[in-house]
Amino acid sequence: MTVLQDPLTISGMMSANKIFEFPVKQFLQQLIMDSTQHARFLNMLAMLEHMGSRKTTAIQAVKPQRMSEDILKHLAGEVQHASFFKRQPQRAAGYDMEGWRDDNTMARVPALMYFGRLDAGISNVVGPSSAYNWVSLIIELRACWLYRIYQQTLAESDDHLSLKPLLAVENHHLQKMYTACGENIDQLKHLSTYESGLFRKLWDKIITSIELPYEPAMQI
Ligand SMILES: [Fe+2]
Ligand SMILES: [Fe+2]
Repeated sequence: MTVLQDPLTISGMMSANKIFEFPVKQFLQQLIMDSTQHARFLNMLAMLEHMGSRKTTAIQAVKPQRMSEDILKHLAGEVQHASFFKRQPQRAAGYDMEGWRDDNTMARVPALMYFGRLDAGISNVVGPSSAYNWVSLIIELRACWLYRIYQQTLAESDDHLSLKPLLAVENHHLQKMYTACGENIDQLKHLSTYESGLFRKLWDKIITSIELPYEPAMQI
């Protein structure tokens, strides 16, 4: 039986971001008690998931011969996640979350910049033909890391939102993309470190975009 390796551990991502877990959880604990800001946060996640799906769709334009069933399934998963996050504020508090605007999307511009820089930076390192696999892998690392903390925080609160099914899909994506990228551990560590720097900048913008009683993000 093949024992699956955990990309979160192998990449060094878990250990490098360990110090960041507590402040992120602390922020999320405060956030979910504020339905307006929580809705804006969910809409930001919807936007990022949507951007992930667009990145996948872009392959069709550049390399249509690579559009496999696996990639289409991945695309469908990310579209579902965007829709899932869009739906939650409406379901929980009746908020209309139409579109992505500064008023209804937390740190909208920094989130766009995070994704754009990540995509460009990784593509520069690995080249256009491997960009989809590597960008996806690094994004899945962060998604699994953040959604685990988020799910844990939600489970300990009165909020009924559950990310468990979504998290299972992201874990599956992560494993798939890890396999697709081969076993270039040095590159994985390098790109994960690059992403951690970008994520820290985004998170700083997120926490300074609202007034909640928590500490600023710690350095990693
Ligand atoms: Fe996703
Ligand atoms: Fe995913």
